[in-house]
Amino acid sequence: MPAVVVLGAQWGDEGKGKATDQLGAATDFVVKFNGGNNAGHTVVVGNEKYALHLLPTGILTPGVTPIIGNGVVVDLEVLFSEIENLTARGVDCSRLRISANAHVIPSYNRTMDRVAERFLGKRQIGTTGRGIGPTYADKMNRVGIRIQDLFDASILRQKVEGALVQKNALLVKIYNRREVDIDIVTAELLSYADRVRPMVVDCGLELNNALDEGRTVVFEAGQATMLDVDHGTYPFVTSSSCTAGGACTGSGVGPTRLDRIVGVAKAYITRVGEGPFPTELFDADGERIRAVGAEYGTTTGRPRRCGWYDAVVARYASRVNGLTDLVITKLDVLTGFERIPVCVAYDVEGVRYDEMPYDQSAFHHARPIYEYLDGWTEDITGAREFTDLPDNAQKYLAYLESISGCRISSIGVGPDREQTVVRVPLL
Ligand code: GDP
Ligand code: IMO
Ligand code: MG
Repeated sequence: MPAVVVLGAQWGDEGKGKATDQLGAATDFVVKFNGGNNAGHTVVVGNEKYALHLLPTGILTPGVTPIIGNGVVVDLEVLFSEIENLTARGVDCSRLRISANAHVIPSYNRTMDRVAERFLGKRQIGTTGRGIGPTYADKMNRVGIRIQDLFDASILRQKVEGALVQKNALLVKIYNRREVDIDIVTAELLSYADRVRPMVVDCGLELNNALDEGRTVVFEAGQATMLDVDHGTYPFVTSSSCTAGGACTGSGVGPTRLDRIVGVAKAYITRVGEGPFPTELFDADGERIRAVGAEYGTTTGRPRRCGWYDAVVARYASRVNGLTDLVITKLDVLTGFERIPVCVAYDVEGVRYDEMPYDQSAFHHARPIYEYLDGWTEDITGAREFTDLPDNAQKYLAYLESISGCRISSIGVGPDREQTVVRVPLL
């Protein structure tokens, strides 16, 4: 019966892929409900390392049905190259299903993403350049192209034409680029139709039936709470709903059916791209976290900005998602720090904020107020029970739990599937 949402509680790359993968064999369906190939979820299984962008993590577990939900935006070239790469590595991708209502990322939206960023100059978002923003904009603007549109050449051409009327004017007159040819784009999209057709499903119907039959569905988020288009640090966000509500709108399953909402957070915090980040480190500690935690983007390879755990962000994520469980990852990365600062509140020009300021300018000026905890030096990567962890690591976690607004159910002590301490099973 369980329907479990796994989402990011920070600015992304918290280890959602690993957390979803761990539910593994106990799962029947894994549905991705938002984002696209801006995501990069790394899963380590023994000696094998997989970097998934568009495909749900469930693809790696035999017997699980992975579904790309209607809330996802799909770059078809990336979809098939991921399928080919995984198939070549012996992963069975034949179970993959895709919602008829998912939107596709036409090649012109990759162009739009990049030129728009260039035009923003100093105010750029630092997007992944994958065409995510323009494709969600088209969806809301009702000029998007859906998976189901690939199956009628004449409708598809009309839709491409509809989208390109404005875009071509923009590209030529404002961005000084060449016009996009409607027929070339239509032919490019049509070339995927036969390969996509067997995968297409009514995602909501499929999942509701599965839940009726007592099966288990995991809803896997891309990005994270602080990158959510409504609840994140707008405009420095992605363009989709990464929070718990997005699991419903992005898959066609109602909120009353969700049983658990699991937030994934690192024992510290990172961010890729531009935007405010109160606990960001610019010193040797930040360098050390980046080096030990291998904090480089899975998708763009950019160095991730690193900082101390921010409990204001954690409480905010607990609240806007209604978290039932928190998974703390990468605790092992903090091993060896003598003292570990934890941000408990912000100081904004002399005023203390215990909760996230709703005002963007205040957040931009927020300075962290820290509590300091004693570190540990013991290697914790072999810990499997909470009591295997050194006293100070246990105290660190107990402290995080006391100020994050949610119980900590699981703790990551290394990238491998097995390197986890489970306190409360998520399924
Ligand atoms: P996602 O986008 O939320 O799935 O996260 P990413 O895969 O982009 O980034 C998380 C990285 O941390 C990946 O390289 C994981 O293999 C790795 N990872 C996950 N959990 C742990 C952990 O507990 N310890 C360590 N050292 N690495 C982890
Ligand atoms: P996962 O799922 C971290 C960031 C980009 C940029 C902003 C907007 O691996 O956690 P976009 O291309 O989405 O329009 O870029 O969002 N971003 C991510 N940061 N992890 C991700 O995904 C991200 N997906 C987008 O860096 O700041
Ligand atoms: Mg990632």
